[in-house]
Amino acid sequence: MSDKQQGFSSSFGAIMAAVGSAVGLGNIWRFPYIMGQYGGGAFLLVYLAFVFLIGMVLMMTEFVIGRRSQHTPAKAFVYNRPDRKGWRFLGYLCVFTCLMIISQYVVLSGWTTNYIVDSATGTLASLQTSEIGTHFSNFITHPWLPVMYLIIFTVITAVIILGGVQKGIEAVSKVLMPVLLVLVLVLCVRSITLPNSSVGLSYLFSPDFSKLSGEGVLAALGQALFSLSVGMGTMIVYGSYIPANDNIFKTAMLITASDTLIAVLAGVAIFPAVFSFGQDPASGPGLVFQVLPTVFNSMGGIGTVFAVMFFFLLALAALTSAISLLETIVAWLCESSSVNRYKSTIIVTLVVLAVGSVCALSDGLLGGVKILNKSIFGFVDDLNSIYLPPICAIGTVIFFGWQMKKEDIIDELSNHGALKIGYFKAFYFLVRYVAPIALLVVLFTSIYASLFPNN
Ligand code: PHE
Repeated sequence: MSDKQQGFSSSFGAIMAAVGSAVGLGNIWRFPYIMGQYGGGAFLLVYLAFVFLIGMVLMMTEFVIGRRSQHTPAKAFVYNRPDRKGWRFLGYLCVFTCLMIISQYVVLSGWTTNYIVDSATGTLASLQTSEIGTHFSNFITHPWLPVMYLIIFTVITAVIILGGVQKGIEAVSKVLMPVLLVLVLVLCVRSITLPNSSVGLSYLFSPDFSKLSGEGVLAALGQALFSLSVGMGTMIVYGSYIPANDNIFKTAMLITASDTLIAVLAGVAIFPAVFSFGQDPASGPGLVFQVLPTVFNSMGGIGTVFAVMFFFLLALAALTSAISLLETIVAWLCESSSVNRYKSTIIVTLVVLAVGSVCALSDGLLGGVKILNKSIFGFVDDLNSIYLPPICAIGTVIFFGWQMKKEDIIDELSNHGALKIGYFKAFYFLVRYVAPIALLVVLFTSIYASLFPNN
């Protein structure tokens, strides 16, 4: 039996690994600022609806497809519908999407790794507020530093994958996830005990429906999918590792709740501190790499400790997510060729390093290179945020809702009749109608918005 079919050894391990995949840069960096930007509590309500009604439903479909087939996406769809071989292309598209996402992900993770070093060595602490922005742009445009940190981060990810599903991914996730929770909690306590923390809390939570535009609703759905790591086959692969007698509904529920909790806690760790020191809540990389270092510097000496903690937290979150992305591609290569797991890991890692490095240099050495009028990083970002994940997600729900046999789905969700699945009707309705329509709306509106930015 190959290592792939070995799977996770326990329910706890399976949940920690999947939470590890879900909790990533998306939670700690992206969620807080989009929540603040689109009306705080108002955004949170919409987000909660999407995350449970569409994101979690998608996660369950991926778990069912994966666990039933014991395959990666390339074979999993066809296993569940052997007479329609064309569905394998959806599998390939999922694997390609993972490659594009991880190539961009390791760039940002490399930046984070560099900031652990810069905060631990006191470099950040020695900067004046006015120098923090320049420090960041000098770093990302540097001819080789971003690539060096990207390599460090990717190699650490690959070493864990080499350890295998149980001794690598599961073992590491079981340790890192609790550590991550502790770090977030410590940072939350620091943040809410600062003077005037209530300003940040109210920025984050008080519902302002006027800021929740159509754009905010779209962002909420996109974020819900990205944050739960669904719509690109990762959860099909992890689904194939879930123990046979685990309750898929409960597992997905726990993962979804933990992911959302960590995202909200990240907001609590960030915004009260930002407002307490009179900073503006920037969006995008500016928040994490410019505003927060300024905040940590304002805390005095102890700020260094919190800076190291924060960037370490971000890197840990990124690591377990990168692991799941790399694992999806490695498992696919092992499955579809005679290359063993060790060699597959090396090959896939080299490809990720190559594509990732090109992305990393797109602000510096390769700054002149444009694809469709965008920088390389911008182009990959468009692929990853507008096109690939929604297309894979739509394919997956259509496959599940309209191609897979209903009896097979019931059989898998109920663990061959052992569990009661009273939620089934509602679930099936969501997968067949609500999810495809919502996803199509997101896909078309975001394509439209990106083609006609001024409308
Ligand atoms: N869920 C991760 C995050 O929030 C990103 C991710 C997407 C990981 C898809 C795996 C697959 O950062």
